[in-house]
Amino acid sequence: MIHPQWWRDAVIYQIYPRSFMDANGDGMGDLAGVTERLDYLAALGVDALWLSPFYRSPQCDAGYDVADYRDVDPLFGTLDDFDRMLAGAHERGMKVIVDLVPNHTSSEHVWFRQALASPSGSPERARYMFREGRGEHGELPPNNWQSIFGGPAWTRIDDGQWYLHMFDTGQPDLDWRNPEVREEFENVLRFWLGRGVDGFRVDVAHGMIKQPDLPDWDGEQVMVEGGNRGPMWDQDEVHDIYRRWHRVLAEYGDDRMMVAEAWLKPERVIRYIRPDEMQQAFNFDYLMAHWKADELRNVIDRSIASSSEVGATTTWVMSNHDGVRHASRLGLSDPGARPQKIGAEDEQPDEALGLRRARAIIMLTLALPGSAYLYQGEELGLPDHTTMPDRYRQDPGFLRTGGEDGGRDGCRVPLPWRADAPAFGFSDGAAAEPWLPQPVSYARYAVDIQQDAPDSTLSLYRRLLALRRDYNLGRGMLVWHVSPRDDVMRVSNGDITVVLNLGSAPVALPEGQVIAHSLPEAAGGRELAGNAAVWLLS
Ligand code: NOJ
Repeated sequence: MIHPQWWRDAVIYQIYPRSFMDANGDGMGDLAGVTERLDYLAALGVDALWLSPFYRSPQCDAGYDVADYRDVDPLFGTLDDFDRMLAGAHERGMKVIVDLVPNHTSSEHVWFRQALASPSGSPERARYMFREGRGEHGELPPNNWQSIFGGPAWTRIDDGQWYLHMFDTGQPDLDWRNPEVREEFENVLRFWLGRGVDGFRVDVAHGMIKQPDLPDWDGEQVMVEGGNRGPMWDQDEVHDIYRRWHRVLAEYGDDRMMVAEAWLKPERVIRYIRPDEMQQAFNFDYLMAHWKADELRNVIDRSIASSSEVGATTTWVMSNHDGVRHASRLGLSDPGARPQKIGAEDEQPDEALGLRRARAIIMLTLALPGSAYLYQGEELGLPDHTTMPDRYRQDPGFLRTGGEDGGRDGCRVPLPWRADAPAFGFSDGAAAEPWLPQPVSYARYAVDIQQDAPDSTLSLYRRLLALRRDYNLGRGMLVWHVSPRDDVMRVSNGDITVVLNLGSAPVALPEGQVIAHSLPEAAGGRELAGNAAVWLLS
């Protein structure tokens, strides 16, 4: 029987619909493409899927600018396609969570159009954050806040008022103190819950409430590493929203969940997963740890300890659609560093070393208790497209900073399914160009050549996911062992001991039968090679 709180140990696979699989051959991934590949996902052995936004949207931030929260964008298909995908996932025993983007709508949303067509002070404007400007003629923005994507967080409209957008101009922030906004989103939740979704990933969960007087802020404005506490983030009142939502989910039983995207320090993140709020929050500290044993161990211990303070489990995540893939990050001279982007003019990662380390780190990740998030393509060992010509880039962060920042396109490249097909099999039929170019190296990573190869990265992920389930590692507990060297980690979860060698020199292995290894040649005899890992059965 599946435990109602299935998320506590679930492995959740992030689908970025634009780039997963294109069933209608227009160069853009779609929901029918996801349905086509459900057998692949079930065979991989994941428990749940999280889909990034597929709603109606002008796509100025790849769908994180929603124009209609209750419909599928024609780019991705129809509501019927969604229902088919959901039913197919459920038939195969996989849960499905969808992305909810409540901090802002698209500027094409009917509410924002109504706001623009209505006078200042009207109820239509009161759904958003409209303010008068400063300066003699209101010609200066109401405060000094900067958009996460660069430039001022305010845009002036024709009648002289300004509206707040913490992201792109096309993403006006809603006013979450307005009861109408709250009611609308509770109904959006019900709309998707009623269709049968198992939960929501909540975008910018720490951003919806702003300090009432909107004071200037001279601290860090962006969602920086470790988070920050400017007047636009992590205000206490935001928790009222999640308490309400918790009750909305409960109307549908005790097996629906929410996961918070909140870039904050762990002691603040856990406030979002108190028993009457959300069920999970992304653990970005793990993603941001460097290739260092003590740093990883600290993050692991702190994450488990802090989430257990509130009775929750933690989540382990290494990559998502907002940053350079870990196979590329781990091949940099500062392994694990998190550059905004890697372009042709930047240091190029050592691809082989990055892949080797990526295969080693997943052996640690999937041995940890709690829940894990995988980003599509990491099971293939995919690197970023690190030499993508700028003319292809579409990230609004890139466009708003004149190319200095915001290079998230490199991790959003369409997946390679068949090594020798056009667009590596991403598009079925007479394919248009994929919406972002794939690097030639993707041929080496294609699903068809990894599928039956026993030592491929895909086979490694499948094996680890099966063992994780068999040994119930997601519900286990860690015991650390004294390690022979600073760059070696040894930790047990029940019967499984992981040895991870982060250094380059081989290290002696303790007793135990090797039941999985990151590379066949890494664990010959009783030694483990550098940048490699094994699971031992004791
Ligand atoms: C976080 C999402 O993951 C990111 O892709 C998006 O640009 C921002 N939130 C704004 O919605």
